[in-house]
Amino acid sequence: MSVPPRLSHVIPVTSLTEPLPIDTLFDPARPLEVEIGCGKGRFLTARAAQNPDVQYLGIERMLSRVTRLDKKATRLKLDNLRILRLEAFYTFYYLLPAHRIRTVYVFFPDPWPKRHHHNRRLFSPLFIDALWTRLEIGGTVQIATDHLDYFSTIRARLTADSRFCEISAMERAPHEQTEFEYIFRNQGLPIGQCAFQSLPAPERPLPPLTIPPEMEPNEKNP
Ligand SMILES: C[S@@+](CC[C@H](N)C(=O)[O-])C[C@H]1O[C@@H](n2cnc3c(N)ncnc32)[C@H](O)[C@@H]1O
Repeated sequence: MSVPPRLSHVIPVTSLTEPLPIDTLFDPARPLEVEIGCGKGRFLTARAAQNPDVQYLGIERMLSRVTRLDKKATRLKLDNLRILRLEAFYTFYYLLPAHRIRTVYVFFPDPWPKRHHHNRRLFSPLFIDALWTRLEIGGTVQIATDHLDYFSTIRARLTADSRFCEISAMERAPHEQTEFEYIFRNQGLPIGQCAFQSLPAPERPLPPLTIPPEMEPNEKNP
């Protein structure tokens, strides 16, 4: 029986509280790698084309970038790449299964440079808990950013966490650099990059999230 062509690489999300049916979306026998904030997918599509036996999930919240990536994945016939249009922290916290992801890539995460916006940065203590919980034991997280202050914060937090140990960061050939990396490297801007491997540690259930009062729906913020 022939399999009909997939119309979209975007995973439909039907529930924001139930974990994704990961084993129906991805072959459990093949590795799964995730890029957070994958943008238009320059890195993700290059890797998926080079490594057909590896499965890739891109998480990106901006619709226009998701649409561009979806079209590119279709054009390149990448059947090992799927996309989630969702907030990455929430996705890691609730939707992904425990200890399933071999590698997480976070390249040029939004730096939120103003101090009073630092609480919007991805690498919060709660995200690091969720990251460890979703990575395979021995899995890795690869990080790069041009924002050197944010880079120091991320590296310090992961270094201080006994569930991770630092390893050598990957190098990316020019054709697999992300859109931002390609631009910044051509401008000669300094880029911080590091990588960490997850280590065995006692399991701690992720506590339910509480919504801060200012985020609660109200008349001004329905
Ligand atoms: C600065 S851009 C970098 C894009 C790409 N990684 C690159 O290096 O070219 C950050 C990207 O991450 C996405 N993003 C930021 N925070 C996110 C989040 N919490 N969940 C999902 N996507 C996010 C943004 O929409 C944007 O596409």
